[in-house]
Amino acid sequence: KSVIHNLWRGEVSATMLSPRLQKAMKDYMSANKHRVAYGGRRRVRQNGQEVLCELKRHARVRVLDGTEPPFSRLGWNKLVPAQPLEQLNGASFRTCAVVTSAGAILNSSLGKEIDSHEAVLRFNAAPTGGYENDILATPKHHFNTSSLYKDITLVAWDPAPYTVNLHKWYKSPDYNLFTPYVEHRLHYPKQPFYILHPKFIWQLWDIIQANTQENIQPNPPSSGFIGIFLMMALCEEVHVYEYIPSLRQTDLCHYHEQYYDAACTLGAYHPLLYEKMLIQRMNIGSQQDLKRKGKVTLPGFSTVNC
Ligand code: C5P
Repeated sequence: KSVIHNLWRGEVSATMLSPRLQKAMKDYMSANKHRVAYGGRRRVRQNGQEVLCELKRHARVRVLDGTEPPFSRLGWNKLVPAQPLEQLNGASFRTCAVVTSAGAILNSSLGKEIDSHEAVLRFNAAPTGGYENDILATPKHHFNTSSLYKDITLVAWDPAPYTVNLHKWYKSPDYNLFTPYVEHRLHYPKQPFYILHPKFIWQLWDIIQANTQENIQPNPPSSGFIGIFLMMALCEEVHVYEYIPSLRQTDLCHYHEQYYDAACTLGAYHPLLYEKMLIQRMNIGSQQDLKRKGKVTLPGFSTVNC
């Protein structure tokens, strides 16, 4: 619990984690699975506006567009959606929601508020039916299998080596997302579906490390952080729910399954604790919204002058 209090204040350190999580972190550090070698400097920016500008300047949403090998050779330039992800809504959405699947969203009664946003980002096919009161109202979005994912844009990613060798990545992804991606594109050519470029993923990692005094886990940022950045690029204002935990904080990993592990909220593989500290610094919402709703409010990149 005290880690959460420190997160609300924006002052966290790995030393505040349980011995078990600290050990897991150390193991990931020494494994260094993606062969990360950070060559940058550290300039820990405390000011939210500065963090915002650094993110805006040094990271750009990028997806596989099929123009680079091996994907060009495989005809991916015709497989990927014609419309770039960055121009999803023509211009941009007004307000957007990012909803983590954290257990703390249960009993939040945030469903209506979340549903009032123009666009909502969710993770890993989290179910909505039965949880309408806490996460969203479904009536508008009743899918059957044929219209499954109608009006939904899918975004996937997978960790590549830090040096971003697309050939190596294609040969041995963490999770084989390439085959299902191709199949889905061929079956549902009208549904926008993108794979994030690993360069973009590691750009985000570099910025998190640059802004953290401690050595962060040498693994990609979590989907939560990647998703928040994506929405900041697409929306004028982004409301993030239960990423930084509210008073409802629980070890329940996801609202939709009975699995308890503090690592889901505080991180083991992902540098989650440090990502959250960075997001906390950029929060323009109130402390009350943070504690009661688990809500962080962030300006979209198009609205900030850097
Ligand atoms: O676990 P899953 O990948 O579905 O969650 C999506 C994102 O939500 C995570 O990458 C993480 O950033 C965030 N999350 C969290 N606390 C949890 C569960 C998820 O911060 N308990």
